[in-house]
Amino acid sequence: METVNILIEALPYIKKFHQKKIMIKYGGHAMIDSAAKSSTARDTVLLKYVGMKPIVVHGGGPEISRSMNKLGKEPKFIGGLRVTDQETMDIVKMVLVGKINTEIVANIGLHGGKGVGLSGKDNLLLKARKRSPQLVVNQETGEEQTVDLGLVGEIESINPEILDVLTENNYIPVISPIGVDERAETLNLNADTVAGEVGGKVGAEKLIILTDVPGILRDPSDKDSLIKKATISEVKELIEDGTVRDGMLPKVLTCISALEKGVKSAHIIDGRVKHSILLEIFTKKGIGTMITR
Ligand code: ARG
Repeated sequence: METVNILIEALPYIKKFHQKKIMIKYGGHAMIDSAAKSSTARDTVLLKYVGMKPIVVHGGGPEISRSMNKLGKEPKFIGGLRVTDQETMDIVKMVLVGKINTEIVANIGLHGGKGVGLSGKDNLLLKARKRSPQLVVNQETGEEQTVDLGLVGEIESINPEILDVLTENNYIPVISPIGVDERAETLNLNADTVAGEVGGKVGAEKLIILTDVPGILRDPSDKDSLIKKATISEVKELIEDGTVRDGMLPKVLTCISALEKGVKSAHIIDGRVKHSILLEIFTKKGIGTMITR
């Protein structure tokens, strides 16, 4: 009976999200080992078979630093931000597009989905310009300094054509967050930002960001203080009063901007919990933080 109730609980959401685009950002634990990768891919394929149109954007994170170490190159960070020189960019590109993207695509295929890998270069999906030098706080000295983060870009325009072609034909696009500038050079992009902007551009119903925390916590040291639901103005208050800060801040800002571009709901969920995507979408209570306009 319990199993049946779970299925019944899912029905309104299966109906509501039928044929809707669901933008999912893979990151953190959801991509850490082969079991997690396989499970995340399987959940994504399930969404497809139930009638939704998932689109995936993935990050790189630890895998990039690991590969750099293997190749004998020291990753450089200033104020928590990666500095991308040409050599780093080459490694980032190889790892994101050559390794992480193809692994996700393969896992989707293994579970019966039609995964197709893309980078921002495919049909100029993500046109970018180099980010101007930024003011950052040096975490060691506490001083503010202007730093050029190198080959890091911000999105200038999105050409969603290929995503429409693919989703219309039941493929699951998997996007590597690299952009292309007007000289056809590669720029490193923030994967959360890409997910938010692309989600807005394609008129996604939902943006789901997989993280390594339960969601927005009222007290970061208390995992039971999860805020399950919030509106844009409520999260803005949480930013003002300092509840949302550090690594959570850019994710929440991404959610706000996606919602302002028309995405109906943005969800920050825990990728460490097995099947968190399904728990969030198909249950009433969800599992993470849901932000709406
Ligand atoms: N399953 C519903 C949805 O995806 C509700 C999710 C509620 N989630 C939450 N964190 N309060 O829209």
